Amino acid sequence: MVRLSPSILAADFTKLGEQVRQVEEAGVPWLHIDVMDGNFVPSISFGMPVIASLREKSGLVFDVHLMIEKPERYIEEFAGLGADVITVHAEACTHLDRVIHQIKAAGKKAGVALNPATDLSVLEYVLDQVDMVLIMTVNPGFGGQGYIPYSTEKIRRLRRMCTERGLSTDIQVDGGINEKTLKLVLEAGANVIVAGSAVFGGDPGAGARKYLSLIEEFERQKK
Ligand code: DX5
Ligand code: ZN
Repeated sequence: MVRLSPSILAADFTKLGEQVRQVEEAGVPWLHIDVMDGNFVPSISFGMPVIASLREKSGLVFDVHLMIEKPERYIEEFAGLGADVITVHAEACTHLDRVIHQIKAAGKKAGVALNPATDLSVLEYVLDQVDMVLIMTVNPGFGGQGYIPYSTEKIRRLRRMCTERGLSTDIQVDGGINEKTLKLVLEAGANVIVAGSAVFGGDPGAGARKYLSLIEEFERQKK
């Protein structure tokens, strides 16, 4: 099952609640929430109070992408705020195995994100423990960047790796998703699609409906 997870990083923050409501009404199942610390990535986005406010207004699955150093410091706090999926970067964790278990102990789904240049081999011993792998298809830190072409092969290799191990792990892609790259990532085996500017760059409801229907069309053709 393919899911769309619009990233609020590209939203108009003066109308954040309203724009989230629009994508929710359009029928998206997940909401991608990018937390940046100005250390792991150059930029700073937003943090706990924003998530707490949104949680009061939205029933969506909160897919929290932590682009922060030493995320183990904040797992319980994000879990308490109502994050449903918590994704940490392999590059930001000295003890990745421990952090994965920490997320699960908090009762949440655990995701591991890999920067474009990070090899899939870091997943060798933990793949069967994670609910989702996030393949960054741009260098994290900013919305609106171009999709890195070598990502497609990386997604394909990861899907093969999961299948060979009998795993149906979610593969999320994040960065530079547009109509053209959506097709590439879906064909390669991604099933959780983050879309920032593609959805929130214009009318969010219309953007969400457009991408939901492109996904639906892909799934219909696959049958
Ligand atoms: C980038 C963030 C993304 C970002 C994607 O570091 O992780 O989630 O919002 O934006 P687009 O879809 O515009 O590339
Ligand atoms: Zn993200």
